[in-house]
Amino acid sequence: MKTAFLSFLFITFPYTISSDNMDPMYREIILDYYRNPRNKGKAEHAEIGAKDVNTLCGDVIEITARVDNGKIAEIKFDGKGCAISQASASMLTELVEGKKIEEAAKMQKQELLDALGIELSASRIKCALLGFKVMKLGLYSYLGKKMTAEEEDEMEE
Ligand code: FES
Repeated sequence: MKTAFLSFLFITFPYTISSDNMDPMYREIILDYYRNPRNKGKAEHAEIGAKDVNTLCGDVIEITARVDNGKIAEIKFDGKGCAISQASASMLTELVEGKKIEEAAKMQKQELLDALGIELSASRIKCALLGFKVMKLGLYSYLGKKMTAEEEDEMEE
């Protein structure tokens, strides 16, 4: 059983996340979000939608959201990928649900990384921010804004 769990961790968090640099509490939280994702699926009557791919691995995340009174009334993510990308997208939906569109569009990536609570390598940050980038693309499009190259780069780092 212990071997199976360690194998799972190695496959899920290759190279970058080990029990040495990951607080066990955060590891459990991430695994819980991965196994029991909140807000997975597609929002009904969505007015916001975007999809993007992590070019390093080919994993895709789609985000859809319904707007009510200028706020995100419902937001869901879909797609498949590693535990970090799935847990992060799921946490993100909880962080922004109920927020004003403009407020969510201004969200900083650090807020999400803080919620994840673990140290990540550059490639894993890309996993963690995939859903965040997709959400921003969707919100910007809804607001009629275009993401600058600088903003896009910032989400890749
Ligand atoms: Fe594909 Fe993390 S390995 S998103």
